[in-house]
Amino acid sequence: MGSRYTAFTLLIFLIYYSGLVFSQLPSGQVSTMSKIYEIFQDNTGSSFVWNNVARESNPCLWRGVSCSTAYSSINGLSFPFFSIFTSEFLPVVCQIDTLEFLDVSNNHLSSIPDGFYSVCGEVNGLRLLNFSRNRLIGSLSSFNGFRMLEYVDFSHNYLSGEIDLQLDGLDSLKNLNLSHNMFIGNVPTSLGRLNLLEELQLSFNRFINEIPRQILRYRNLTLIDLSLNRLSGSIPEELGQLTELRVLVLSINNLSGGIPSSLSNITTLFKFAANQNNFNGTIPYGITRYLRSLDLSYNTLRGTIPSYLLSCPNLQSLDLSYNELEGSIPTNISSSMSRLRLGSNSLNGVIPVFSLGSLVELTYLELDNNSLTGPIPSELGTCGNLALLNLAHNRFTGLLPPALGDLTNLQVLNLQFNNLVGEIPAQIIMLTTLRMLNLSWNSFNGSIPLSVTSLRNLTNLDLQGNNLSGQIPGSIENLYSLIELQLGNNQLSGVIPSMPLYLQIALNLSHNQFTGSIPVTLSRLTGLKVLDLSSNGFSGEIPNFFMGMTSLTQLVLSYNQLSGVVPRFGPHVVVQTNGNNGLIFPVENPSPTSRRKRKSLSSDIVIIIALAAGTGAGLLIMIFMFVKKKI
Ligand SMILES: *[C@@H]1O[C@H](CO)[C@@H](O)[C@H](O)[C@H]1NC(C)=O
Ligand SMILES: *[C@@H]1O[C@H](CO)[C@@H](O)[C@H](O)[C@H]1NC(C)=O
Ligand SMILES: *[C@@H]1O[C@H](CO)[C@@H](O)[C@H](O)[C@H]1NC(C)=O
Ligand SMILES: *[C@@H]1O[C@H](CO)[C@@H](O)[C@H](O)[C@H]1NC(C)=O
Ligand SMILES: *[C@@H]1O[C@H](CO)[C@@H](O)[C@H](O)[C@H]1NC(C)=O
Ligand SMILES: *[C@@H]1O[C@H](CO)[C@@H](O)[C@H](O)[C@H]1NC(C)=O
Ligand SMILES: *[C@@H]1O[C@H](CO)[C@@H](O)[C@H](O)[C@H]1NC(C)=O
Ligand SMILES: *[C@@H]1O[C@H](CO)[C@@H](O)[C@H](O)[C@H]1NC(C)=O
Ligand SMILES: *[C@@H]1O[C@H](CO)[C@@H](O)[C@H](O)[C@H]1NC(C)=O
Ligand SMILES: *[C@@H]1O[C@H](CO)[C@@H](O)[C@H](O)[C@H]1NC(C)=O
Ligand SMILES: *[C@@H]1O[C@H](CO)[C@@H](O)[C@H](O)[C@H]1NC(C)=O
Ligand SMILES: *[C@@H]1O[C@H](CO)[C@@H](O)[C@H](O)[C@H]1NC(C)=O
Repeated sequence: MGSRYTAFTLLIFLIYYSGLVFSQLPSGQVSTMSKIYEIFQDNTGSSFVWNNVARESNPCLWRGVSCSTAYSSINGLSFPFFSIFTSEFLPVVCQIDTLEFLDVSNNHLSSIPDGFYSVCGEVNGLRLLNFSRNRLIGSLSSFNGFRMLEYVDFSHNYLSGEIDLQLDGLDSLKNLNLSHNMFIGNVPTSLGRLNLLEELQLSFNRFINEIPRQILRYRNLTLIDLSLNRLSGSIPEELGQLTELRVLVLSINNLSGGIPSSLSNITTLFKFAANQNNFNGTIPYGITRYLRSLDLSYNTLRGTIPSYLLSCPNLQSLDLSYNELEGSIPTNISSSMSRLRLGSNSLNGVIPVFSLGSLVELTYLELDNNSLTGPIPSELGTCGNLALLNLAHNRFTGLLPPALGDLTNLQVLNLQFNNLVGEIPAQIIMLTTLRMLNLSWNSFNGSIPLSVTSLRNLTNLDLQGNNLSGQIPGSIENLYSLIELQLGNNQLSGVIPSMPLYLQIALNLSHNQFTGSIPVTLSRLTGLKVLDLSSNGFSGEIPNFFMGMTSLTQLVLSYNQLSGVVPRFGPHVVVQTNGNNGLIFPVENPSPTSRRKRKSLSSDIVIIIALAAGTGAGLLIMIFMFVKKKI
């Protein structure tokens, strides 16, 4: 009884999921899908995505096909990464008159046939077209019909030409993406006569001239991205009337003039970027009132940083670097702040300690290349999330606070070119997360802390230009990630320990007080490119093992007390040996390398002459020289 019941249910189930449902899809849509199946099968070869389904099965079950709930019609086709090269299927898909979205992004389409525009324009419910990341070339076609089309994405193609009225018929257009193409001319402003546009993404094209005021017709705009074009002129003050705007990106253009203060009236605006332009004037009042992110870097803004600017409670990211700002850093900093970049201005005064204790979100702090003074506050040690701290190229004085050793997420610490003194705190040299440590060109003294062995992830260590003395700790060998070690211009001495094996960029021990013979352990550094041992007291011969250091491109041995015969180095190494009195240079016999050099030189001349003359005369000269050489 029970098993007969189960069999019956199963039968119903099978009917329901194969025959019944299948029969509900209009036969026209089934045959259309069948055609598309065939086109893809012929065209995509081994990447054919419907390999595992039969052409006779219900298309609603094929990958990328969306149907209405009752499987009564197809409403969407999503074919991203289907390896499609042919556009043949495009006029065919719109025979499905219930289609609402078509996504053919991430394929290899190079054209869209005219038939597509005429047939699809008639599909009344079509709301989304996505051709992003194909290989479309030529200019943008005109859209006629497409009455409900809201989303149009042609980003990441090779489309060119101007955009005039091609999109003006799209009455429902809300979301347009033409970024990463090669469009020229003015920023398009005929984008649907009902003015419903909300997102306008035009970055990375070749649009020129000013930001058009006609853009203000679209009062519902929430996003404008015009970055990476060739726009000039200033930002229209009226942009402040776009009261729905959330994101405004104008980066990397040739815009100039002042930043309009009207933008600070837009309560919805949370991201504004205008970096890498020619904006001048001062930072307008209240600009960060509602913003979460502001980037005005690489302009020529002047004046001081207004005292309220950093304190606005929503502000998370502020980049004002590479401007001409002066005065001091405001004391009141929002506790939401995560990235603060004020480098390469003319700021002075001290680092304000007032807010430091509450900056728990702070991840990047860059104040480099200013004229900041005073000590480095130990309160910085409370900003436990800091991953990057760059205070280089300032006038900081005093000792380095050991409290910086509390920054257990720190990856980059740049303090070079300041006037810091005293010993390098062992606590800092224990930060196992550090990748880059640059303390060069200060006045640190004492010896290199033994705790240096903790820096397992350190790739670049720069301690040059200080007053460090004593020996290099033997444990330095354990820094397996280290690719650059700069210890020049100190007063280091004693035995040079085995160096980290994977050093690549440089090992610089120059201008120290090392003596004795060049240590044989250096021979293991087979990946090292630059070795600088100059201005020390090294004596004895230049070892032959340098020949085995096959990556070496520069070897600086100047100003030591080396003696003996200089080994013959290969042509890829630049060797400097001046300032050593006892060196003997081998006589320049016609060695195999130098003979080859001369030969290639003369054949170069032949080629040049032949190219210059280009005709029979050149050929004659060439033959003549060839014969002469043979003799
Ligand atoms: C188009 O497809 C890409 C991915 O393939 C996606 O990132 C993008 O958001 C889509 N565009 C629209 C308007 O949906
Ligand atoms: C193109 O921009 C639109 C509008 O902002 C966005 O919805 C879409 O996701 C973007 N497409 C891609 C591929 O990022
Ligand atoms: C903004 O969008 C709303 C619907 O969301 C619409 O009613 C209104 O007309 C649009 N504004 C403009 C200026 O078209
Ligand atoms: C940038 O704009 C200025 C005018 O503001 C113009 O003189 C200059 O030629 C433009 N530069 C480029 C590279 O377009
Ligand atoms: C900002 O809005 C206020 C009130 O609507 C208005 O009085 C003021 O002029 C606006 N400021 C700017 C710079 O547009
Ligand atoms: C800003 O630059 C424009 C030219 O691009 C110039 O006319 C104007 O005087 C400058 N303003 C300030 C405050 O320097
Ligand atoms: C810091 O700024 C915030 C927000 O602007 C403000 O509420 C607070 O009173 C300021 N604190 C001080 C001490 O100025
Ligand atoms: C310092 O700032 C000046 C002016 O902004 C800039 O020209 C220079 O390249 C910067 N130097 C460094 C080391 O960043
Ligand atoms: C290091 O410098 C500090 C401050 O200049 C000084 O007090 C100390 O004596 C120096 N230490 C050594 C070992 O030279
Ligand atoms: C070192 O780097 C590796 C790989 O990036 C990472 O997984 C690891 O957590 C790092 N170690 C420390 C102590 O930060
Ligand atoms: C380095 O230390 C010596 C004495 O130990 C001192 O004479 C010299 O001025 C110091 N140099 C620097 C740059 O601090
Ligand atoms: C340390 O800073 C100096 C000066 O800015 C720079 O030349 C050097 O390359 C930096 N060292 C490392 C290892 O990055």
